[in-house]
Amino acid sequence: MVCPVVRCGPNHLTFNDLDLIPVVYHRQSDKTDYPQDFTCPGAATNKANYLEYAAAKRQFGQAFSVSRVQLFEGLVDETLIKWVSILNKETHTSPSIDWGTWVKYFSFDVYVPMSVGESFGFLDHKSDVRNMLQSSYRIFRKWTLSRYRPIAWLAANTSLGRRLFVSGRDDSTGMGMWTNEVHDITQKRIETSKTQERPRWKHSMLDQWLAAKSATGEGIPQSDIEDQLVSDVLGGPYALATTISHLVTTMAKHPQAVRRAHQEIDNAFTQQTLSSPSPTYAECCALPFIDACVREAMRITATASPRWRCSPDRPLRLLGRDVPPGTAVATSPFTISTHPRLYGDNAEDFVPERWLEASEEQLRVWNAYDAHWGFGYRKCPGRHIGVLVLYKTLVTILRNFDIKEGTSGPSSLRMLPRKL
Ligand code: HEM
Repeated sequence: MVCPVVRCGPNHLTFNDLDLIPVVYHRQSDKTDYPQDFTCPGAATNKANYLEYAAAKRQFGQAFSVSRVQLFEGLVDETLIKWVSILNKETHTSPSIDWGTWVKYFSFDVYVPMSVGESFGFLDHKSDVRNMLQSSYRIFRKWTLSRYRPIAWLAANTSLGRRLFVSGRDDSTGMGMWTNEVHDITQKRIETSKTQERPRWKHSMLDQWLAAKSATGEGIPQSDIEDQLVSDVLGGPYALATTISHLVTTMAKHPQAVRRAHQEIDNAFTQQTLSSPSPTYAECCALPFIDACVREAMRITATASPRWRCSPDRPLRLLGRDVPPGTAVATSPFTISTHPRLYGDNAEDFVPERWLEASEEQLRVWNAYDAHWGFGYRKCPGRHIGVLVLYKTLVTILRNFDIKEGTSGPSSLRMLPRKL
């Protein structure tokens, strides 16, 4: 018998019951004591308490809205054109590439300018500039460890724990490096805002937050802006990279789907419903089979977890039993995304056609349980950026390449330039 709620840590419960999603991920649930004190304490999205978060979201949230994200479509186009040109040259000599690494370079170069107005230039340098990615792996390893409660306790309360498990601002090859990088960019932007000098990309989140004022006319403290930026430029591109990587490698494992997608894209170019050289986001979403592939690949590879929620001061009632206040509760996005009650017996298979054949009612239910961006009030604020980049990237990659599974590890891919 499958148990709908299980204990997976001293004070952690996880569940697979669809009906519990609104019970756990409701508007007034707090995030758990994720060790914000030693990551980015001022970041709005690190606030544990729902009221504090709601207040911070009023200042920070607008920058993630659809209308603001649309301002960056030109940046996505420019970065995609650059990436395709590099991939064309790279695959000319050998079609097998280290896809995982290229996707990271692309994801950072496409997202970081949205955040701070300029790029670190991974694609231009075709390398890990100043070992920044290397240093971020160090940070993530420590963050991951410090999420486990006993380790979080040691890290928060003992200097040994802090030294072992926390990448702090004084760690010049980890968190400190990213914090300084963002601080320098912010300082420079404050200086140049007094002159005519403009950053390469205007309207960045940094620009928007520097200009933001509360109802009483106060600006956002610079340290809070910097904390939010560090949190975003560390987390956003990795989430993007993982999702793009899964999307394209999943397609590569299904040659029939690639053939059908090629046909749809090529026809649309012939009929001029896709603009050249860069189709718009709206045009890409209007391709039914591409849309089905994005949804289906995201569904079966949903890996980014909705964060732990807890009720700090009142018991949470789950399936008729009281869960004590402070207990961390979460579900697994993969479990929900492949739930047989939603997707039937072939729930774990890649079947894009299911989205084309589904009734309106079925689509409504699937959309309601879409786990990829998390659930409720605190679902991913970067989701509009995510879909903008995902749809445009899939269409651009498939327009320019035939893709096949690689032979040298899970992140390798064979990309053969197409003769157009
Ligand atoms: C395709 C790419 C992405 C995926 C799949 C993804 C997925 C997620 C998921 C599942 C969560 C947890 C939500 C929850 O707890 O219910 C989350 C949170 C978050 N995401 Fe994303 N994300 C992506 C891109 C981005 C981007 C580009 C940004 C840009 C800044 C971003 C910023 C954040 C932040 C700040 C949070 C924490 C929100 C909070 O707890 O209040 N994400 N994301």
